[in-house]
Amino acid sequence: MSIAFLDGEYMPIEQAKISPMDRGFLFGDGIYEVVPSYAGKMVGFALHIARMKDGLEAIGIQLDWSIDDWATVCNRLISENDPGNLGIYLHVSRGTDTKRFHAFPENIAPTVFAYTFAIAPAPIADKSRVTAKKASTTRDLRWDRCQIKSTALLGNVLHFQHGYAQGSDETLLFNADNQLTEASACNVFIVKNGTVITPLLDNQKLPGITRQIILDVLRNDGQIAVQERIVTMDEVANADEVWITSSSKEIAPITEIDGKPVGDGSIGDIWLAAQTLYSAAKFNY
Ligand code: PDD
Repeated sequence: MSIAFLDGEYMPIEQAKISPMDRGFLFGDGIYEVVPSYAGKMVGFALHIARMKDGLEAIGIQLDWSIDDWATVCNRLISENDPGNLGIYLHVSRGTDTKRFHAFPENIAPTVFAYTFAIAPAPIADKSRVTAKKASTTRDLRWDRCQIKSTALLGNVLHFQHGYAQGSDETLLFNADNQLTEASACNVFIVKNGTVITPLLDNQKLPGITRQIILDVLRNDGQIAVQERIVTMDEVANADEVWITSSSKEIAPITEIDGKPVGDGSIGDIWLAAQTLYSAAKFNY
């Protein structure tokens, strides 16, 4: 049985109940995070909490929690649940109102929910021990504030489903100018002629923590050239390697996009180098 946290109490997840008047339920009016944890050690904890604070500020939810408050909840959930490979889900909604009215209500307390779920073991930096993934593509039809990790995920859900229905693991998204934005629940990297390239951050992409750590470890290592810039649809189609990155996947190689092989269709050497560096450094973040 999994133990969850809801508004100050720890309880079996089945007993965690919120009101249907919660604005998270009615409007998707909230912010969330997923923090990965392996054998009790979290990756990027402070970075995740900082991003959550930015999101709450961006949408005007006032939550008076310190990073230590979040650490207490996360560590308690890790110890209450099987501490193997966990995603720690953190969710703050604007709270429960007495009526359904779009404007921000005054004097309501945010709802704070957290629980853990099992994630796949971290990828091993070994080509023969990682499963390559397939992706589909579609036009990015989400809103203009994708930098906010909002719980209102219908756009992402529909985009993910588009690929899933075709047997893909993810859907790569392109804006109206045929530029790569991200994927429905991941950031995206390409590799061309040995250079690692990822789209610049703006309001069309979530500033992924995994993305940030990868860029940092590659730059610290200094062996592989790295670029943050516009990535076109043609560049994705002609890339030597394509990766999707997220807290629960780390760096996942894509070897097929819309039924066509990426590069020579096999997992690339630069993926191997990047995942090796990531695996060695991730607990420092
Ligand atoms: N997804 N872009 C989007 C749209 C995402 O939803 C995510 C994460 C990422 C990668 O961010 P990070 O490296 O910080 O996990 C990029 C989470 C895991 C989810 O929704 O479950």
